[in-house]
This record gives sequence, structure tokens and C-alpha cells, in this order.
Amino acid sequence: MLPTLLHEKQREADRVMQHASGDKRFKILEAHMKKHQFKHDALIEILHKAQELFGYLDDDLLLFVAYKLKLPASRVYGVATFYHFFTLKPQGKHTCVVCLGTACYVKGSAKVLAAVEARAKIKAGETTPDNQLSLLTARCIGACGIAPAVVYDGTVTPRQTPETALEHVKGWISHGN
Ligand code: FES
Repeated sequence: MLPTLLHEKQREADRVMQHASGDKRFKILEAHMKKHQFKHDALIEILHKAQELFGYLDDDLLLFVAYKLKLPASRVYGVATFYHFFTLKPQGKHTCVVCLGTACYVKGSAKVLAAVEARAKIKAGETTPDNQLSLLTARCIGACGIAPAVVYDGTVTPRQTPETALEHVKGWISHGN
């Protein structure tokens, strides 16, 4: 490989690791990979865990998995796009991921989700017609102590209620929706 390409690859890896370092969900995912001894044949299982934690698989997440498992990114992308049960990064400009794991659920996250669904006039897993907001769900994002948690544009936010969630997304929902 040409030295410049190698440099680029390293820079990309550094950027992804930097992104991952501030987010506890990446640590939980890494622990899960470790449990599977970073084995390549656990890739599908690991992507499932990643989707449970993040709600969808975006580029940095797939690259993180590829780097950690020492697999070519193309292989990880190939698997993520082949199976229908994986959701790649949604097309909405903004994302709202409501955790429906047990701790969040018992503290009312289903009501939070219902409130956003009603206001945005979309269901979980959908994007508003103007592509401003994608609404997703996750199963335990590793923040049970601050349940119910919602992730707005990648920021894990504690103790959400229908009111705080609507306040958060209101700028992302047009009146025409
Ligand atoms: S159940 Fe929601 S963060 Fe664990």
C-alpha cells in the first residue's frame, strides 16, 4: 500500500477511536467482543449487540467493529447491508433513539416514544418526510442509572419525560408534519 494511503487509514482509525473514547456504549461493545475473544465468526452477534446499543449501525460504529476485530471494513459493511435485520444509519438529519431496555421501560420510556411518534407523525424506525428526524429504539444503551435515557444526535440524555423529549425534538419537526 502507498504510504499516503496508509497515513489516511491511520488518520481514519484515530478519528474513529477518538469518537469512541467518549462514549460508554463503545466500551460495552468492546467488552462484548472480548467475551467472544474478538473472533471473526462472532461478527453477526457483535453487530446485533451494536444495534441494540446504538439503535442503528453508522459508519463509525462499523469501522470500530472492523478495527477491533481486525477485519476489512468491506467485510463488516457487507454483512451489515446483507441482513435485513440490521439498520444502517437512517437518512434523517437528526436522530432520536429511545431506549426501551428494561430499566428505561419501567421508568416510562414507552410513553416518551409514544409522545415523539405522535408529534412527529412517524413510527419508531421511520424518518419524517422532510428527512429532518429519524426515530429509533435501542435495547439498553448502558445508561440504566439515568433511565429513561434518550440519545439525541449521539448525545445520551438522562431522565427523559414526554415533555422533555418533545422540547428536545421540537425544532426538528416542521409544522407541516
Ligand atoms: S435499559 Fe435503558 S439504558 Fe439500560
